[in-house]
Amino acid sequence: MAETITADMVIHDVVTKYPATVKVFHGHGLPCTACAVGARESVAGGARTHRFPPEKLDLLVKDLNASVNGEPISVAPKKAPVGRGIPLTMAPEGEDRKIKKVIAIMSGKGGVGKSLVTGLLAVSLRRQGMRVGILDGDITGPSIARMFGTQGQPSKSATGGIDPLTSKGGIKVMSMNMFLEHESDPVVWRGPMISSAIKQFYSDVDWGQLDYLLVDLPPGTSDAPMTVLQSLPVDGIVIVSSPQMLATMIVMKCINMVRQLKGVIVGVVENMSYFETPNNERYEIFGPSNGTELVTMTGAPLLGQIPIDPNLALLCDAGRVEEYYADAYEALAANFVSTLKIKR
Ligand SMILES: Nc1ncnc2c1ncn2[C@@H]1O[C@H](COP(=O)(O)OP(=O)(O)OP(=O)(O)O)[C@@H](O)[C@H]1O
Ligand SMILES: [Mg+2]
Repeated sequence: MAETITADMVIHDVVTKYPATVKVFHGHGLPCTACAVGARESVAGGARTHRFPPEKLDLLVKDLNASVNGEPISVAPKKAPVGRGIPLTMAPEGEDRKIKKVIAIMSGKGGVGKSLVTGLLAVSLRRQGMRVGILDGDITGPSIARMFGTQGQPSKSATGGIDPLTSKGGIKVMSMNMFLEHESDPVVWRGPMISSAIKQFYSDVDWGQLDYLLVDLPPGTSDAPMTVLQSLPVDGIVIVSSPQMLATMIVMKCINMVRQLKGVIVGVVENMSYFETPNNERYEIFGPSNGTELVTMTGAPLLGQIPIDPNLALLCDAGRVEEYYADAYEALAANFVSTLKIKR
C-alpha cells in the first residue's frame, strides 16, 4: 500500500514518485505539474495559486490517493500538455538541475547599486568561464538590458518558450524592457501582474544550461522580492548596502524579510564605499565603512567594497559594463565565486 498523499506534500515530489497523479491534477484543471513554479509548491499551495476552489481540495487529495491505489477517481483523467511535464530546470539538486545556482541580489533601499552589482558579478563569473544568466526582477524599473546593451525582442524558442537575449560577452539576459516598444514606456502594473511576470521569466524562458542565474530585485520588501524568495528555487541572497545606509533600519528590514522567508544570505557587498583620486587619495564620501556591522547583522561574509567610479557609471549607461576592469572589483568577484562554492 502506497503512502498517503496529503495537501502539504510538494507537487513535484508527489508526481515524481507517482507519475499517474499528473493526470489527476490536470483532470481537476490544475496545470501545476506543467508549471515550473507551481510544481515546487505544496498541493494546497499550488491549488491556491491557480485559484482552485478551497472546498474541492479534499476531493483532489482523495483522487490523488485513489489514483495511486488504482481506484477510480471523480474526474476524467487528463494528459499533461505535450513536452511540459516537470520542467528539467526545476530538478531539485545535483547534476540534472539545468540551472545550478539561483542567486538573488537584494537591498532594502533604492539606488545603492543592486543592478550594478548584479551586472558586475555576472561579468566576472562569465570571465571565469561560467554560464551565466540574469533575470531582471525589477519589472517596473528594469535596468539590466540597458547596462549590457542588449537590444531587440526575445524570440520564441524551439521548445515553445522564450529565448533570452544574449550579451556580447555571452550572458543571457531577460528583462521587461525587451517587451516594451520604447525603453521609456512605463509598466503600470499592480503586484500580482509583477509577480506573474517574474515567475514567467523564470519558467517560460529557455535559459538552457546555466551555472548561475542572477536575479536583480527592485528595492524594498514588496511583491517582487517576495515572489522571488517564495516561488523561485533561490540558493542564496546577496545583500547590497552603502555606508550611510546603516543609520536607517532599512537594511535590517531586508535581512529580517529574508529570514522570515527562510532564505540564506550568502554575502554582503558594500557599494560606494569610497572614492579614490588619481593620486590615490581616498575619500569616504558616504562616511566610514559599515562592513563589520553588516557582517554581524547578517552572519554572512563581506564579499567586497566597491568604490565610486565614474568610469563604471559611464560604461553602464553606454551598455558596455562588460568592458569594465578594476582591482577592487576583481577581488569581490573572486570572493563571491569561492563563497558560493563553499556553500554548496
Ligand atoms: N560604485 C559605483 N560607481 C559609480 N556609479 C555607480 C556605482 N554604483 C552605482 N552606480 C550608479 O548609480 C546608479 C544606481 O545604481 P543601480 O541602478 O545599480 O542601483 P539599484 O540599487 O539597482 O537601484 P534601484 O533601486 O533603482 O533598482 C546607476 O546609474 C549606477 O551606474
Ligand atoms: Mg536596480
